[in-house]
Amino acid sequence: MAPSNVAMTVVAAAVALLLLAPARATKAPETAYTLPAGGPPSVPAGPLDIVQLGAKGDGKTDSTQAILKAWKNACDATGTQKIVIPPGNYLTGAMELKGPCKSSIIIRLDGNLLGTGDLSAYKKNWIEVQNVENFAINGHGTLDGQGPLVWKQNECQKSYNCKILPNSLVLDFVKNAQIRGITLLNSKFFHMNIFASENVLVDKVTITAPGNSPNTDGIHVGDSTNVTISGATIGTGDDCVSIGPGSKTIRIHGVRCGPGHGISVGSLGRYKDEKDVEDVKVTDCTLVGTSNGLRIKSYEDSKSSPKATKFLYEGVTMDNVSFPIIIDQKYCPNNICVKSGASKVAVSDVIFRNIHGTSNTPEAITLNCANNLPCQGVQLVNVDIKYNKSNNKTMAVCKNAAGKSIGLAKELACL
Ligand SMILES: *[C@@H]1O[C@H](CO)[C@@H](O)[C@H](O)[C@H]1NC(C)=O
Ligand SMILES: *[C@@H]1O[C@H](CO)[C@@H](O)[C@H](O)[C@H]1NC(C)=O
Ligand SMILES: *[C@@H]1O[C@H](CO)[C@@H](O)[C@H](O)[C@H]1NC(C)=O
Ligand SMILES: *[C@@H]1O[C@H](CO)[C@@H](O)[C@H](O)[C@H]1NC(C)=O
Repeated sequence: MAPSNVAMTVVAAAVALLLLAPARATKAPETAYTLPAGGPPSVPAGPLDIVQLGAKGDGKTDSTQAILKAWKNACDATGTQKIVIPPGNYLTGAMELKGPCKSSIIIRLDGNLLGTGDLSAYKKNWIEVQNVENFAINGHGTLDGQGPLVWKQNECQKSYNCKILPNSLVLDFVKNAQIRGITLLNSKFFHMNIFASENVLVDKVTITAPGNSPNTDGIHVGDSTNVTISGATIGTGDDCVSIGPGSKTIRIHGVRCGPGHGISVGSLGRYKDEKDVEDVKVTDCTLVGTSNGLRIKSYEDSKSSPKATKFLYEGVTMDNVSFPIIIDQKYCPNNICVKSGASKVAVSDVIFRNIHGTSNTPEAITLNCANNLPCQGVQLVNVDIKYNKSNNKTMAVCKNAAGKSIGLAKELACL
């Protein structure tokens, strides 16, 4: 999960961006917005192959400026422009890829970008795409955050006012984007952060970091609408996918998660003025050896009252997952909150259907809802999860949840 000040920093940055961003130029003709091909032909302002612009794939020459120049050349043109990152290892520092652009931009990533381990080379994130419409990254290359060089400097496990290490790939205020086929490896902090964006497809990406690496969430989504994550293989040291406040119409399907902390909504209620989470579908996914499976969590002492509503979890396989199904309205990591028992985050309309497999703890189902604000409309339909060790039996632990159980074994039918 995002440690305390991630969201703060992101919100502050967003506000700053809103204030600083120049008014958006008049919209280019509709045809210019088609991806991946399309748009009228146009001559870019200069080369788009980063090697022609001086990048060296030797793993040690700093290629940041070549990539920024390619971005500028593409952004200043019209039509669809394709930046080429050929095979090779390109060392880079922070890169802000800013719009608005007149063109649609595709980055063809066949090489590997390496994020330098020198933290002074970053203000905040590593690759940050801002205020861009119609954007794609595809290819077989890798964004290697080189996290092992800096993970020891992450203090967010111990302190809530920690310095956030750079996220690898950030989309801020991006509309109509596709990230396809690439690998994200060993991010310093989150691998991807999709913020205040709309119509984003993340397809067939691979995200890999050790199970014990700190805060290396796979994909975090916040304040965004219509985000689809499909066909991904994600194994990290934190949530495979985390869905923060303000997320609407989120689709996650065909994702394999593990190791990691599972597919999570939340933590909700940490900050003031959080927006609702609404309409999330997680379908045809597999979780292997994760510490949680499908989770919705909100702080016991929430600072705001977002609603979390309309969830469908369907066709999910659990393999040795510690808490396969969990709604927790009393989330309170490290006991930092005031345990009033009075949640403000209302959770409703949550369907778990056709979920099967094995649990690594006896609690296959945990619905830990607050007595002042019970979870409403929870449906457990054909959920078949077994704890398969002999020292205890499979159980559902359900508090303050209303709804129904259909087609469940007696020990799991808690509604
Ligand atoms: C949602 O985003 C996808 C791209 O991932 C796009 O094709 C689709 O048109 C969007 N839907 C709406 C309603 O905007
Ligand atoms: C199940 O997961 C736990 C940790 O989550 C791990 O220690 C254990 O080895 C796993 N068991 C199997 C059979 O994979
Ligand atoms: C329990 O589940 C694990 C993971 O699926 C499996 O490897 C193991 O053989 C199972 N053990 C028993 C006793 O069924
Ligand atoms: C079985 O598991 C439940 C839930 O984790 C726990 O409360 C209980 O103490 C366990 N029983 C035994 C005999 O270990």
